[in-house]
Amino acid sequence: MCGIVGYVGPKKAEPILINGLLRLEYRGYDSAGIATMEKTGIKNVKNKGRVNDLLSMKEIESLEGTLGIAHTRWATHGKPSSINSHPHMDNSNSFAVVHNGIIENYAELKKELEDKGYKFLSETDTEVIPNYIHYFYKNSTETGETKFLSAVNKTCKLLKGSFALEILCNDFPNSMIVVRKDSPLVIGTSETENYVSSDIPAILSFTKNFYLLNDLEFAYLTRDAVTFYDNNLNKIEKSVTSIEWSAAAAEKDGYADFMLKEIYEQPRSIRETIGSHIVTNGTCQFDGLNLSKEYLKSINKIFIIACGTAMHAGLASKTVLEQICEISTEVDVASEFRYRTPLVNDKTLCIFISQSGETADTIAALKLAKQKGAKTIAISNVIGSSITREADYTVYTHAGPEIAVASTKAYTAQIMLLDILALYFAEILGINLDKVELMKKELLEIPAKTEKCLALANEVKEFANKVYKEKDIFFLGRGLDYSSSLEASLKLKEISYIHSDAYAAGELKHGPIALIENGITVVGLLTVPHLVEKTVSNLQEVISRGAKTLIVTNQDLGDKDFDKVIRIPEASEYVSPLLSIIPMQLFAYFISKEKGLDVDKPRNLAKSVTVE
Ligand code: G6P
Repeated sequence: MCGIVGYVGPKKAEPILINGLLRLEYRGYDSAGIATMEKTGIKNVKNKGRVNDLLSMKEIESLEGTLGIAHTRWATHGKPSSINSHPHMDNSNSFAVVHNGIIENYAELKKELEDKGYKFLSETDTEVIPNYIHYFYKNSTETGETKFLSAVNKTCKLLKGSFALEILCNDFPNSMIVVRKDSPLVIGTSETENYVSSDIPAILSFTKNFYLLNDLEFAYLTRDAVTFYDNNLNKIEKSVTSIEWSAAAAEKDGYADFMLKEIYEQPRSIRETIGSHIVTNGTCQFDGLNLSKEYLKSINKIFIIACGTAMHAGLASKTVLEQICEISTEVDVASEFRYRTPLVNDKTLCIFISQSGETADTIAALKLAKQKGAKTIAISNVIGSSITREADYTVYTHAGPEIAVASTKAYTAQIMLLDILALYFAEILGINLDKVELMKKELLEIPAKTEKCLALANEVKEFANKVYKEKDIFFLGRGLDYSSSLEASLKLKEISYIHSDAYAAGELKHGPIALIENGITVVGLLTVPHLVEKTVSNLQEVISRGAKTLIVTNQDLGDKDFDKVIRIPEASEYVSPLLSIIPMQLFAYFISKEKGLDVDKPRNLAKSVTVE
């Protein structure tokens, strides 16, 4: 989704802004633009297409300013075009604005401005913002910075929806204002320069010190200072958050793609997630998570709420929470949960998972659960992200920056974290302690076993290269293998554009088998011992109808007619989802590569879905 970068300092802004935009490319976009403060005032250059297309425009060369804002747009209101790209300016060309989010009442605001004589050039919801700022500024009796700040503040008060904004004004050639509500924005800071970005990795090579803005807080940036205001424009103090991620972690590090690098980082990211929560004496630890035995005994349901891959991580851990903690656990898609009047109250514990911590539906679902009296835990990979600031408690995965749109290392880190959380709850409750110890032992062995799964890459590639031209590929599994099948199928469709569905193998006869015809590819996941025979029978049904089969298993399946069997290390069913998914991530990756597609930036998808 849209990405924002800003810079103010002693250096030429344009290369820094372009560098930031390139690092935000993974979020997904269709146009890009940049505005810098030149001696003659704001200069705005924008176009549809990639950041490299923007870079090849002649006007870019003339940008010399040391203050600037930049944007990658993911079209919502109006098609990708030069005119709809950001930055947007007001009618008098005094203000330039970039915006991430959606202004829900823009039509109403546009009408009001048209009645005041303003003209609109674009189809966007954003263009009302610079024009309203201009309107309030022009009619203000205030002076200096206050006049600029107050025009922005008054405009924000009119806006319904979500926004992260950067604003330049010709009258203040050394300053920028930024503000956010329900859309991500961070400020990177150092003594002599300040940066703005939609996320941390984009500016990690410039600074590791960040300010995090809450909703409707304003920051007034100059090269050597950042001043913060609340929504009544009272000054507020903020402290700097230092980020541990290294800049190198956001680079490809010799891998062909970020996705491949991230797949191979899983032994490390899982190890770090374990290391942070299973301490050396073997007990589970979650600093700051003050959930008492009485509280855990009092809850009658755990809800896990998330979107996409993060939701699948919830599915993979549901069984563990239910079996080990003996608490009924429901997993829901955030966009469904928030609109279906869920039965949530003070006896419900709601866990929200979001790699980015900025997914709009997940944040809205979290706010709803809080209103209904539930205790909330956020699981995120990004320090200080919105979800972590809304929830009662936060626990972090330690996956490091995930850049590829298709999530891999965040998924396994999320499952690992949820599994340890389940063990932690059981320890507090004092139940199933034998099972807890056994599973802990197994979890500690997972990093080494993931390395073994990665060593299967060539075998997976060989099969992928045989089927990459298929139109449909189906995945079958039962129990936890069904959850993993859903994620395997999602990975494949995200980056290969092959139509793919995952079915609970027992459902095959209730419809999907009608789709099986000669030559079709079916992938079977078989790691749950008591369900293996049943899934094998289902696979035989598809084989007898001509399907080619790829099997991922750690079970003894005997001598069967499968086209390819990928043997993953032995493990109990509870932890197998952490292993069986790895060949499936590689399967999707190799198919996408063989098709010559952009693995890291699949069409139409965004890494961080910050609008509904
Ligand atoms: C987008 C991404 C997915 C991700 C989902 C949830 O759809 O493309 O990879 O799983 O959002 O993202 P989150 O940051 O909330 O985990």
